Amino acid sequence: MPTTTAPVTDVVDRLERTSMLDPVVNGLRSLSQKVLAPQGVRDILHGVWLGHPLHPMLTDVPIGAWTAAAVLDVVPGTGIGAGTLIATGCAAAVPTAVSGLADWSELHGPHQRVGVIHAAANVIALGFYTASLGARMRGRKARGKMLAFAGFTAMSAGGYLGGHLAFRQAAGANHGADLPDLFPSGWHDLGRLDEFPDGAPAKRTVEGVDLLIVRRGQHVDVLSNKCSHLSGPLSDGEFTVEEGQGCIVCPWHGSTFRLSDGGVEHGPATSPQHRLETRVTGGRLEVSLAGE
Ligand code: FES
Repeated sequence: MPTTTAPVTDVVDRLERTSMLDPVVNGLRSLSQKVLAPQGVRDILHGVWLGHPLHPMLTDVPIGAWTAAAVLDVVPGTGIGAGTLIATGCAAAVPTAVSGLADWSELHGPHQRVGVIHAAANVIALGFYTASLGARMRGRKARGKMLAFAGFTAMSAGGYLGGHLAFRQAAGANHGADLPDLFPSGWHDLGRLDEFPDGAPAKRTVEGVDLLIVRRGQHVDVLSNKCSHLSGPLSDGEFTVEEGQGCIVCPWHGSTFRLSDGGVEHGPATSPQHRLETRVTGGRLEVSLAGE
């Protein structure tokens, strides 16, 4: 059966493949890596402390304030309210953009191409709304409204692209959420315990589900191998110790997960890895879903 997509989706799909945007993407990525270099700052901006990406939550404030201002702008006698909402949206747009920049800098190329246009639309929106505020303060109400509606149009385009990034390209989604649905019930043999390297990651697959195994002496931890950030293979990553805790570092964007509980030590991931139950029977390592 032939498949059809909305024309606007076709345009955005083409945007993902437009390598002409790459010089801008590369420049912005290096800038973000310099400006947002400290890991602690990046973790706050990603939302590691929240267990959820921070950026989508922050976008509610400018989008909500500017949308409400658009409604007030068509209601007579509500100019002060509209101006207050526009100023609120402008102030909230700054931390929203910074958190988005941190997330964007740790995405794949096709995400980043769409993300650059998403950011440009929102910067244009902010410019229009700032100019609208200026016009309102000078008493030029009609011009202020016109500029605000131009800002609303740009913001809507930016919002559409943000939706494409989140829902079509799954940036910010938990890429490991399906493990409990995919992993077969019961205990599964992974091999002799002593065949796993000591202090180094290894990979085994149970009915199509890839697992990360890290053995330290007689102790062994097993996590889902697919990084919750963007599905990077954790078994190709590096074992490290952070504040006395054994951790695995994803080879793609450096997310760091504790082996003891799968929790996120450092982003860009914000969702933990699934950790499986282990037992050793007759010298062989077995795993099952936790809580079974
Ligand atoms: S895939 Fe991005 S940090 Fe793992």
